Order: sequence, then structure tokens, then C-alpha cells
Amino acid sequence: MDTAEIRRRFLAHFERAGHTPVPSASMLLDDPNLLFVNAGMVPFKPYFLGQETPPYDRATSIQKCVRTPDIEDVGKTTRHGTFFEMCGNFSFGDYFKEQAIELAWDLITKPQSEGGFGFAESLLYPSVLDGDDEAVALWRKTTGFDDDRIIRLGPKENYWSMGVPGPGGPCSEILIDRGPAYGPDGDFSAEDRYLEFWNLVFMQDELSAVRSKEDFDIAGSLPRRNIDTGMGLERVAFMTQGVENMYEIDVMYPVIERAMELTGRRYGAGGAEGHIDDIRFRVVADHVRSSMMLIGDGVTPGNEARGYVLRRLLRRAVRSMRLLGYEDPALPELMPISRDKMGETYTDLHTDWDRISRVAYAEEETFRKTLQAGTTIFDLAADKVKAAGGSRLEGDQAFALHDTYGFPIDLTLEMAAEAGLSVDEAGFRTLMAEQRERAKADAKAKRGQHADTGAYRAVLDEHGPTEWLAYETLSTESRPLALLRGGERVAALGNGEVGEIVLDRTPFYAESGGQAADAGIIEFDGGRLEVLDVQRPVRGLVVHQVRVVDGELPADVAGGLHAQVDPEWRLGARQAHSGTHVVHAALREVLGPSALQSGSYNRPGYLRLDFGWTTALTPEQVRDIEDVSNRALRADLPVGWQYMTLPEAKEWGAVALFGETYDTSKVRVVEIGGPWSRELCGGTHVDHSSQIGTVVVTGEASVGSGNRRIEAFTGVEGFAYLARERDVVGQLTGLLKTQPDDLVGRVGDLVERLRSAEKELERARMQQLLAGGAALAEQAVDVDGVAVVARRIDGAGGGDVRTLALDVRGRLPHDRPGAVVIIGVADGKASVVAATTESARERGLSANDLVRAVAPFVDGKGGGKADVAQGGGGDVTRIDEALAAVTATVSGAGSR
Ligand code: ALA
Repeated sequence: MDTAEIRRRFLAHFERAGHTPVPSASMLLDDPNLLFVNAGMVPFKPYFLGQETPPYDRATSIQKCVRTPDIEDVGKTTRHGTFFEMCGNFSFGDYFKEQAIELAWDLITKPQSEGGFGFAESLLYPSVLDGDDEAVALWRKTTGFDDDRIIRLGPKENYWSMGVPGPGGPCSEILIDRGPAYGPDGDFSAEDRYLEFWNLVFMQDELSAVRSKEDFDIAGSLPRRNIDTGMGLERVAFMTQGVENMYEIDVMYPVIERAMELTGRRYGAGGAEGHIDDIRFRVVADHVRSSMMLIGDGVTPGNEARGYVLRRLLRRAVRSMRLLGYEDPALPELMPISRDKMGETYTDLHTDWDRISRVAYAEEETFRKTLQAGTTIFDLAADKVKAAGGSRLEGDQAFALHDTYGFPIDLTLEMAAEAGLSVDEAGFRTLMAEQRERAKADAKAKRGQHADTGAYRAVLDEHGPTEWLAYETLSTESRPLALLRGGERVAALGNGEVGEIVLDRTPFYAESGGQAADAGIIEFDGGRLEVLDVQRPVRGLVVHQVRVVDGELPADVAGGLHAQVDPEWRLGARQAHSGTHVVHAALREVLGPSALQSGSYNRPGYLRLDFGWTTALTPEQVRDIEDVSNRALRADLPVGWQYMTLPEAKEWGAVALFGETYDTSKVRVVEIGGPWSRELCGGTHVDHSSQIGTVVVTGEASVGSGNRRIEAFTGVEGFAYLARERDVVGQLTGLLKTQPDDLVGRVGDLVERLRSAEKELERARMQQLLAGGAALAEQAVDVDGVAVVARRIDGAGGGDVRTLALDVRGRLPHDRPGAVVIIGVADGKASVVAATTESARERGLSANDLVRAVAPFVDGKGGGKADVAQGGGGDVTRIDEALAAVTATVSGAGSR
């Protein structure tokens, strides 16, 4: 049964049982605790916690997931992939244990001819949390199994949580016996023998802390009892397809086949060497697919967080191909194979292929360069070890190669072995572990910040969501619901104090979707607050950070409040946000639809937009983007927005941004000029594009691998920017006494003239120097039959000294040996050049010896050949002694 068929059967089974099919969410859902979506339930979390009301009681989905903690184990076990798809059915306060068990059992045991998966009952084993007698009884009832067929396990296996505070509950797993070849009878911890492929979670608890799988705090019960299940699509696929493991299923194996063709090696060849190769093939198949899916969802390679995971996956895939003997660019050969398989389900892989492949291939190129540079660094390190008589590369050196140059440790080990060195692997691992600890501590600190939303949650529970009027009005009367300071409720805010206020209704826009928070004031009888920031720390609740600029505000202020957004500010914000959409559309018009926004920020007068693109834009492209933008402004395009479902929005061609969380049943689409620009967006916008005023692009630059940033001014700020430029032009034309149109020509002339004047000056200096050369040669003194010139020249640097020394040597009498030493003194440094004639060298007089004799007196070093040598030093107080040393050396050589 191919994977597509398993998907179809799963969804059909649960749709028949009244579940709404929900498309997979992006893997980049905005959950502060998770790097990637790692289970099917993640998008439904607010429903489980009772924070939001689900639009359905039952849902089913096949969710894209990524888990990366055990990336090093990929390929070694049969079960672990970094990317995988989780098939799930969910009940939000509707059915519970009994029906969850019945539904699952029915699907897996129903014969394949009747639409099920047809697993033999005799091979199946349910497991439950030790003590969950209700589950045991229900399993017996459903399956007719004896008591001892139902395995009881501890919380490590059979209590499920997200690993972080959130929903959780006892669970029940379904295991399948793969036979004695995979492990001993009855050893349910032998995961390869009794393979778990479906987990039914009886989600009933809210956890406040999770320290490990067995150590967590249950804060209380969830508002309702829910069901969350996860069936591993790949696991079911490899069992129904009669293959050994997940890497060999229909959507993965073709990549291995292509890798075999490219490398000429065989998967499954057996033997120790063959086994290592097999792992490499599996790593390739897994990582190529995972990285493609991640790029598809908008991740770009980088050095932190998601970007780092992607970078590792891509590099490990490339590296594994190299270890299999393939050194050419591998991804262009492999990723299209994975696309063709996965693209049957995820059609975006085809439409976005241009962007996806560009990002992936560019990273492979970068890595290839890294390998080259790293090899040089490695050679240097290895030479140093050998020069010092050592035979071991230290842990910190291996770590530096890894950390700074992205050089994988296995590569270091291999190259060290070739160079006859060992590596302090233990030291390396210690440093790696320390780094991981630091990263963990950072992540924890970050979580701490987010976890601290208790006070806001309490306000929300007490009063319900804020009535949010930002789309309708700029001012409103409202009531204060809570005052807070430092995350605690307070009874009043004193004059001059900064705190937070929650209102029953507000016209203020809270920062989101790249748009800055509104500014404005909140007035009350007897005082005034200045609004500094507006955020939504928990969904539904708008919190204003304010400073009391007048009076004192008690929490129970009489007479209510008047909230007033600064209209100028808001107009600027609307201009900037609509401007961002215009620039995005212009960008796609000029560069093509694969240029997609990856982030943005806008505030009154200013916008910046990051987009996935691997090469610098040309000045023409930047100008075109600005041109297209301003033409859209002049066309006075209407700006409008409406709500629809996510599939409708996609159908409409609306651009959804990566990493945004969308309620798929209701999204807001903002359009400018009809289909010209359609984006999912919750921001505030102008009514007509001409209201943006102007778009002035000020720059374009790289922001990390695969991403570029374009910046622009809008509205009055745009005009102000142009006015400043005009001012500069005015000053220059005044200074140069010319017209603006002639300015470039004039400045060009001036630069040209300056350049030739500099050249002329240099020539004159040279002439002067060399003229001095003739005089110096004439002043040669005889030292034991050698014509010697040893002189100090002030103001001469290294290059000049050399020219002069060679010139003087050429002018010495030819009938006897000659030697020249010039010591130039400039900027407190001495430059020494020595030159000898051929007959001097025949007498054993070497320029190298001369420089070495001089060097100690200038506190320096140097050397070279017998005919010319040079050096330098930082002491210019003993030049006379240095020159005397020349004479001594010459006479010394003569007497040899
Ligand atoms: N959420 C459950 C899991 O991930 C189904 O195993």
C-alpha cells in the first residue's frame, strides 16, 4: 500500500466518523516553546487548553512534523526520521477513551479489501499507563484480548506531554510484533521488535512544569476531556510495504536509488563497511527530504535556531554523499527526486521549486567552499602540531574547526588519520556538550519569559478578550480592566510611573505582522497616560504599556477613560504597511514569484522587507523595484480587505507568509489593485495606493545566508529623504560652481585629475630618490676591497628602500665587489634592504648575512637570498650601530 493510499484511508475513515479534515499547518507555527511543529496536536493546542473555541468537535489531519534531538541517530535505527508525517484524530470535549480505542482498532484491523490496513490481530499489543484500569477494560471489550495481552507501562512510555508546560494526559500505544528476528519474545522495550506505531492520548491534564518524561507537575484538569492521537505514517508504510524501515518506503527509496547510481556503491551490501554505507544512504534520504520540506515552509540556512537545524541537515546530506565517494554537487541530483515523490501530496513543492532549489543548492555551494577553507585551516593546525613534535590534534582545535568553519568532526577525524595524527575526541565532545548546555540554558531563559503570562491569562479569564477596534476607529471611551507592573496586578499607577493597562475596548493597534504598535494617549479625569507600546501577550488580550504623564491613575478610576490613537502616527503606519505590500509585489514583478518575503518591519515613514534570495540585486533591479512601486502609487490602486478561509485565500493567489499562525477557517486578505497584490495580513492600510505618497528605496543588503533586505522610506519621510539628497546636491553644485546635470561629469573630472596628479607626484619622488642613488654610489667606501654603501635614509618606506638599494647596486663600480645596505626610517620604523654584487657573493658576502647582522640593532628580523635580502624593526635609536655592523660583517667575510 503506497503512502498516498494510507493517507487516503486514514482521512476517509475519520471523515466517515464525523471528523473535519484539517490541512497540515506550517511546521513553523508561532509557538515560543517549539522550534518546529513536532506533533499533530500542536496547531490545536489553544482548543485543548480552552483558550479558543474550536469550530468543530472532531478533526483529523496529517501534519508535517520535524523532530531533531536525535539527528545523530538517523539511519542507525529503523524508526527515526527528522521529518515525518503524523496522522491524527482529535476530539475536543467530544468522545473520549472508548471511541478513540474503537476507531483506531477498527481501522488497523479491518481487511485491506474493505479499506483498512489489515494488520493481523495476533501481532498487535495495546499498552496502557499502569493503573489506568478503565483503559484496560475498554481494550478488552474492543479486542476480546485477555488481560495479559494488554501491556502496562510507566509514565515514561505511557504519559504524553509536549515536553513543555501545556496539555497532556495518560496514553495508550499500539505495538506490532515484527517477529523474533528483531528482538527477544515479550521484551516490550525492544522497540524494533514491538514497534509502536500509534499513540492515543487521553488528554485531560494541564501541566505547569515538565522536567522529564516521568517528572512533571499537573496543575489541574483541562476544561474538557479530549482525544489526541498520532499514527506514524512512515511506520505504517514500511510495515504495509514489506520493507525493513522507513527509509525504504515508496516516497523515500528513490533518493537512495539515485544515490547508488551516483556513487556506484550498493545499499544493503552487507558486512561492516556495507553497514556504514547503509547508514549514510539513509541519512541522505532522510536529510534531503527534511531540508526540502523545511525550506518549503520558509526556513533558510543560518547559524541559529531553525536556520541552524536546516544547515546541519543539508551539510550532513552533502557530507554523507562525499563519504560515499561522490564529490560533485549532490543536491541538484537528489532533491528533485524527493520533490517528485513528496510533491504528489505537497504541490507547493512544485510551484515553489525555484526558490526551494535555489536556497538548497546555494547552501551546498557555501559548504563546498567551507570544506575548501576548512581544509587549509586543518592543514595549518596539523602542521603546527607536527612542528611542535606532537601527534595529536587537541579537542579545542577540532572544536574550533567545527564551530568556526562548520567542519564536521568525522571529517576532522578522517583527515587527521590521513595526516598521521590522532584527535582528542573526548576533549572535543566535552566542548560540544558545554556548548549544548549553554544553548539549552539560553532556550530555557527564553521560555521563562514566555511562560510568564500567568497574570495576563488571569485577566483574560476574568474579563474575556479585549474588544479590538483598530480597524474601525482611532478613539473610543473605555474602562480599565487591570493595571499591572512587572507582571503583577497593582491598584494604581503613580505620576511618572511606567506600567501596563488593559482596557475593555481599544482602538490601539498591537504590534504584529511586522507593523509597529500605535502611539497615542489615554486620558482620564484628572490625568493622562502616554502609550509607549501595545502588545498581545496572550491571544485576545491587548495590553498597553503606558507612562503616567499627568495625575495618578487608580485601577477603579471614576468616569472611564478616553483612548486616542495619534492620527498622524497611524496615517504614517498605514502608509508604511501598504508600502511594504507594494514593494513586495514590485519585488516579485521584477525578480519573479520565487522572491518571497521572509520577514518585515514597518513603522511610520519606514519599512524593511526581508526576502529569500541568494544573490545581490543589481542597481538596475533596485531601481526597477522602486519604479514599479511608484507607478503603482500613481495608478491610485484601490486597497481593500476581506475575510475568507485559508484554502479560498490560496485559491485567490494570496501570499501567506512563513511562520505566521493562521486560523484556517478565517483569514484576512488585503489586496492592492485586485490580484496585483494579495496578502494575508492583519495590519492597517491606506484606502488608495496614492495615499502612500512615495516609496524611496534606500538600500539593499544581505541579512544572512539566502536572505536579503530591502529598505525604503514612505510618505513624508520619503520626501524628506529626497529633500536631504537635493540639499547635498545643492551644496556640491555651489562648491564646484556647476549645474546639477554637470555634477557627475565635474566630479569625475576632478577625481581623474587628482589621480594623475598623484601619479605625477609619485614619479617625481622616485626621480628624486634615484637621483640620490647616483650620489650614494659615488660615496661608496672601500672595506677590505669591497665597495660598500651603508646609509640611513629618512622618510623612505619598504618599497622605496628596495628600489633605491637595487639602483645603487647597479651603479657601483664593476671592477670590484660591492655591497649596499639602506636603512629607511619612516613612521618610527626601520626598513632594511641589503644587496650584493655577483663578485661580492663569490667572495662569500651574502645579503642575507648583512640583514641578519643589522636586524638586532633595529629590534627586528629579516632575511632573504644572497643577492637581495630585507627586513625591518621597530627600534630606530641604534641605526648608527646597525650601519657599523655592516662594515664589520663585510670585513669579516673578506677575512674568511
Ligand atoms: N501527540 C501524541 C504524540 O505525539 C499523539 O505521540
